[in-house]
Amino acid sequence: MALKYYIRFVRLAVVVMVFLMGWLSYSKTFFVPTEVTTCFVTTEATTVVSPIQMNYTNRPNYIRTRRSDSSTLKIGLKMRLGNMMFQYASILGIAAMGKFSNVVVENGERLKEIFSLSNTNVSFSASNVSSTSISEKACCIFDKRLGTLNNSLSFRVDGYLQSWRYFEAIRDTVRKEFTFSTQISNKACFRLHDVLKTLNITNATFVGVHIRRGDFTYESFKNVGYLTAPLEYIIKSMNIFANLYANRTVFVICF
Ligand SMILES: *[C@@H]1O[C@H](CO)[C@@H](O)[C@H](O)[C@H]1NC(C)=O
Ligand SMILES: *[C@@H]1O[C@H](CO)[C@@H](O)[C@H](O)[C@H]1NC(C)=O
Ligand SMILES: *[C@@H]1O[C@H](CO)[C@@H](O)[C@H](O)[C@H]1NC(C)=O
Ligand SMILES: *[C@@H]1O[C@H](CO)[C@@H](O)[C@H](O)[C@H]1NC(C)=O
Ligand SMILES: *[C@@H]1O[C@H](CO)[C@@H](O)[C@H](O)[C@H]1NC(C)=O
Ligand SMILES: *[C@@H]1O[C@H](CO)[C@@H](O)[C@H](O)[C@H]1NC(C)=O
Ligand SMILES: *[C@@H]1O[C@H](CO)[C@@H](O)[C@H](O)[C@H]1NC(C)=O
Repeated sequence: MALKYYIRFVRLAVVVMVFLMGWLSYSKTFFVPTEVTTCFVTTEATTVVSPIQMNYTNRPNYIRTRRSDSSTLKIGLKMRLGNMMFQYASILGIAAMGKFSNVVVENGERLKEIFSLSNTNVSFSASNVSSTSISEKACCIFDKRLGTLNNSLSFRVDGYLQSWRYFEAIRDTVRKEFTFSTQISNKACFRLHDVLKTLNITNATFVGVHIRRGDFTYESFKNVGYLTAPLEYIIKSMNIFANLYANRTVFVICF
């Protein structure tokens, strides 16, 4: 599923990129050389040298058994991947703020499939520990109450938890958690390697651009205040990277 999407957007991207490389080539440039590393291969015996900065080792998903005697923070992940990532990062941050060492994540299968999650405080087994439910006060805010939960008790946290302030203090932990699974990073590595071949260049910095043109463009979403980035925003952002990496920038556009 993930792979299907991936291939689709890379195909699309190649077309867009060829156009962009010409279009952005007037940008002022200086070089930030990219490193040559290796695609780690799981299914084939060979490794290929790839110009793409990637170095992910095989890290099995860590699933631990929850200590039943301890208080717990629970969350049931909901909606699509981006939402789930926010909820996962935020619950780790909330746990850190309240010094909870037991986090139970329900409905985490999709996240585990995509990332090499390894935080030893997290378990993915359903939990029947009784808990007090607490919901975020409103969408898109940092709800201070969630940072001061009493860790003698267990809580079920409900919400989208869409504020970076929840996980600001543990950003390194969050980055580590969102390491792609070996399977996905390998596929990506080979795929991007092919892109370079197509463009007849030996190295580049890849910059992903996510342009949201789906649900948020529906009248029903606009009417409740959702916005999409205007074209100028996207062009300005891309120019920043084009200036940084010169004509070694390859944009991967995802709609
Ligand atoms: C890549 O990972 C291997 C194995 O952990 C390590 O020996 C090597 O130094 C890493 N290379 C880079 C460029 O980080
Ligand atoms: C586990 O939780 C404890 C208490 O919040 C924290 O000190 C520790 O850093 C956490 N461990 C990980 C791997 O996040
Ligand atoms: C929770 O479930 C376990 C087995 O899954 C059971 O042994 C235990 O009694 C249950 N505890 C509660 C409070 O229901
Ligand atoms: C935390 O909960 C425990 C158990 O209910 C209680 O004894 C303690 O007073 C609470 N601490 C705070 C700061 O509310
Ligand atoms: C690829 O680039 C090299 C040097 O940059 C050039 O010599 C070669 O002709 C190019 N190949 C194609 C197919 O454009
Ligand atoms: C990147 O490509 C350029 C031009 O092909 C080359 O001069 C440079 O050495 C390459 N850098 C690395 C790290 O391979
Ligand atoms: C890329 O940029 C370098 C440095 O500005 C320039 O020498 C080179 O001709 C450019 N290559 C292409 C294909 O535009």
